[in-house]
Amino acid sequence: MKLIIAMIQPHKLPDVKKALFAADVHKMTVTNVLGCGQQKGFSETYRGVVHQVNLLKKVRLEIAVNEEFVDLTIKAIAKGAKTGNIGDGKIFVLDLPQCIRIRTGETGNKAIG
Ligand SMILES: Nc1ncnc2c1ncn2[C@@H]1O[C@H](COP(=O)(O)OP(=O)(O)OP(=O)(O)O)[C@@H](O)[C@H]1O
Ligand SMILES: [Mg+2]
Repeated sequence: MKLIIAMIQPHKLPDVKKALFAADVHKMTVTNVLGCGQQKGFSETYRGVVHQVNLLKKVRLEIAVNEEFVDLTIKAIAKGAKTGNIGDGKIFVLDLPQCIRIRTGETGNKAIG
C-alpha cells in the first residue's frame, strides 16, 4: 500500500478530481495549505516596497491506494494538475504499512479499497 500526497494549484482541483474519477479513484482527503517550492514564493511590490511573499495557497491531496492503483493515480493527478508553468505542484509517494476501516475492523488491502 502507498500513501500518495500531492500539492497542486487550487484552481486545478476540479481537473484533478475529474481525472481521478475517470481512473476509478474516488477516495481522497483534500486540505487547503500554504507552501513554497524552489522559487521560495515570490516578491511583490506594494507602494514601492518589495515584500517577500513566501507562502502561496496550495491544495493538498492525500490518497491511500493498493499497489495496482499507484501508477494510474499519479498519472491522473499529473494530467489534471499540469499547465507547464512553475508551481504546478509535486507528488510524494510514501510506503503505507497499515490501514484500518474503523466500522468493520477490516485491515490492509480490504480496508483501503
Ligand atoms: N521539497 C518539498 N517539501 C515539501 N513540500 C514541497 C516541496 N517541494 C514542493 N513542495 C510543496 O509543493 C508546492 C508546489 O511546489 P512547486 O510546484 O512550486 O515545486 P517546485 O519544486 O518549485 O517546482 P516548479 O519549479 O515547477 O515550481 C509548494 O508550494 C509546497 O507546498
Ligand atoms: Mg515552484
